[in-house]
Amino acid sequence: MVNLTIDGKQVAVEKDATIYDAAKACGIKIPILCHDKKLHPFGGCRMCLVEVEQMKGRLIPACTTPVTEGMIVQTTTDEIVKARKLVLELLLLKHPIDCPVCDAAGDCDLQNLTYEYKVNMNRFVDEKFNHEIDYENPLIERDMNRCIHCGKCARICDEIVSYGAYTFINRGIEAKMGTEFDGPLNCEFCGSCVSVCPVGALNSRPFKFKARWWALQKTKSVCSYCGTGCQLTLGSKDGKVLTTIYDENQGFHNGQLCTRGRFGYQFVNSDKRLTAPMIRKNGNLQEATWEEALAEVTSRLSAGKSDPASVAALATPRLTNEELYLFGKLFRGTVGTDNIDHSAGYAHEALTKGAVASFGVAASPAEIADVQKSNLLLVVKSDAYETHPVIGFEINLGVKRKGIALRIVSDKKGKLTRLPGAKTTVHAPGNEVALFNALCKSVIDQGLAAEGVAGLDALKAAVADATAEKAGVTAEEIAAIAKEFASAEKALIILPIGQGYPGHNAALANAAANLAILTGQYGKEGAGLLIMGEKNNSQGAVDMGIYPKGTGLNAAAIIDGCANGNIKTLFVAGENPVVSYPNRKKVEKALENVEFMVVSDLFLTETAAMADVVLPACSFAEKSGTFTSLGRRVQNVRKAIPAVGLAKSDFDILNALSQALGGARYNNQGEVFTEIAANVPAYKGLTQAGLKDEGAVYPVALSAKLVPAAAQASAPVAGKLTLVTGSALYHCGTMSRFGEGPMYVCPDAYAELNVADAAALKVAEGDQVTVTSGTGAVQVVAKVGKRVPQGVVFSPYHFGEGSVNTITDGSEVTYVTVAKK
Ligand code: SF4
Ligand code: SF4
Ligand code: SF4
Ligand code: FES
Repeated sequence: MVNLTIDGKQVAVEKDATIYDAAKACGIKIPILCHDKKLHPFGGCRMCLVEVEQMKGRLIPACTTPVTEGMIVQTTTDEIVKARKLVLELLLLKHPIDCPVCDAAGDCDLQNLTYEYKVNMNRFVDEKFNHEIDYENPLIERDMNRCIHCGKCARICDEIVSYGAYTFINRGIEAKMGTEFDGPLNCEFCGSCVSVCPVGALNSRPFKFKARWWALQKTKSVCSYCGTGCQLTLGSKDGKVLTTIYDENQGFHNGQLCTRGRFGYQFVNSDKRLTAPMIRKNGNLQEATWEEALAEVTSRLSAGKSDPASVAALATPRLTNEELYLFGKLFRGTVGTDNIDHSAGYAHEALTKGAVASFGVAASPAEIADVQKSNLLLVVKSDAYETHPVIGFEINLGVKRKGIALRIVSDKKGKLTRLPGAKTTVHAPGNEVALFNALCKSVIDQGLAAEGVAGLDALKAAVADATAEKAGVTAEEIAAIAKEFASAEKALIILPIGQGYPGHNAALANAAANLAILTGQYGKEGAGLLIMGEKNNSQGAVDMGIYPKGTGLNAAAIIDGCANGNIKTLFVAGENPVVSYPNRKKVEKALENVEFMVVSDLFLTETAAMADVVLPACSFAEKSGTFTSLGRRVQNVRKAIPAVGLAKSDFDILNALSQALGGARYNNQGEVFTEIAANVPAYKGLTQAGLKDEGAVYPVALSAKLVPAAAQASAPVAGKLTLVTGSALYHCGTMSRFGEGPMYVCPDAYAELNVADAAALKVAEGDQVTVTSGTGAVQVVAKVGKRVPQGVVFSPYHFGEGSVNTITDGSEVTYVTVAKK
């Protein structure tokens, strides 16, 4: 520790602290413009000047100067104030004083400091900038006339997002923050640059002219897209969520969000929201009252109680824990059916079956914080960045700032592949289990297995003929990864799971866990297996038991049951099987066949449109409760706005049904959480109030065991391409289609081809192509690049039009032909 004196106060700080950090630590506020705690120091604006006695009273920037023992610092002498005023005068010289129409007004550091330092006149005169404003895209407006050259946008885009969209162009008085060739912004649209811009140079266009900052009601909540569980602050006014507000002190990610979290919230206020219940009459859905709709559902479920096997229920893992718990209690307890599931069944088996068999718990043995504490990350599929972008930022930060080694095993290349020192092993699609088996064999062969691992002989026998060749990669690659993984001090495997990844199931979780267990890389910080559930509450849905536990049917079997008439009543809470479950035609036929289907949702989705009763549900912004993110963090979700139209939360819907069917009745969701804490062992001791803003990671007691996993052989088929499905960076499930931001950046389904395949098929970027499998055909737009290897075609699964589940059937690998339309 280093001791110093600031404005007469004694303070002791870490030796790598700056004067700014030290002042902050003892509650002294030094003004900053170009500094951001997440970014490398820049020292460009000179707003933070302070005086250091040992430097002969010179003024130096606090944000870049390291502390030294015995330093005596003054932060507000007359001279310092004068210098800061000069900085502000110089900045205001060129800056347009258009605060009345600037969206940053009230949240602008320049405006606030000008006010604080009472700069009400300028000794200098100069012409204002005359830069053209970039209105080219609907998400980010760039008005470089307001730019103060702090460089934060360029630094965050480079250091954290790893995109590098900005650079200073020109020098001196002509200097400008520009883009490549000074063209319009064309990037990932994560909005990170907008969030850190201290003035109104970068603006969120969806928020433009919507409200003044000070008029916004701010509510801390959790993003409702992916399983990362980024915390966010919703800015609302007049019952509408208008924006998300950046708070650098929020969450493990310091306020960082991806494009969905930042610009995808508009689905809450979408004019496509369902606002009233509907009942099918004479073949058409017609508006009804809640009483009528609930009476109809109650009577069906009540009849189902005498034949519970004929009732099934599917829930989206986007509901809160309280809602999912109530869902389980209503269907499993009151109605008496075990036919309940979420996310197509296979999408959570890595947790419910894989993690349970290998580690004795239906949760990841690692948490998000382990990413930064590891020495080597082994990412399965490069999609970790696309499925869980803010985890991608964490990986990026760990690799670039801490030198964490990054190894990727994937069926295609992705953004992680480009990080410094990253090595990507590209394997044939569907070969993940074979590859992990080969890694385990190599660890054993190289004599790198940890001492005394139970079950080693059985694993040895199981992987005896697991070769690199069978996994479709080279022996050198396997030997190198095995060696690095086993000999790293701490190594962590990162595995995304979800509806786009039919092969990411229990066997893969076992195969990956075997590598961790075999090498002793688990049960300690920075090591183990991080299974990344797709949706915001995927882990919570597993914790609340939303999957068949006994002889009940899983999601796929429920669809079959609808088709063969065994399931007569189907309750769907927020799921959209028509677009997201495999084999669309089969799902549609099954749902047409079921006698009675009720769907609660925010939108009239493809599935809701087929229902007999549609119940308008609330979004996450209209209710309180908890979500559990990947890595087991239980976090508070808080109500920001009243329900839209007549919508009710799934909690209220399920509570009303439960009471009508003779089950429990709760006064509020908080009562349910108390019951969860009493009944779900992992949640023991938790209270909603105790979760506060940061949430709580529940502990797991591991009982690790090697579980041999059988690899499916997946050999290429002559004349066919192998289809890989997954997530597009801008989307999550099918809900993001109702967010304007994601739809602007990625509006349509597409098929991504390797340049060589595209050339052979005479397909160019942007062409319409027909992708055909044994299950069906779909028309999508072609993308051409080098990310996917030859022989492979990638297509995201989120879209209703050109939906990829028309051609997939749930197998790990789908063989397709692609032809220009
Ligand atoms: S939106 Fe994100 S990717 Fe685009 S320039 Fe800003 S920080 Fe970079
Ligand atoms: S655009 Fe904003 S963040 Fe970027 S340099 Fe200018 S003032 Fe700083
Ligand atoms: S979608 Fe996921 S990564 Fe993006 S902001 Fe939301 S929780 Fe974070
Ligand atoms: S904040 Fe220190 S130089 Fe800009």
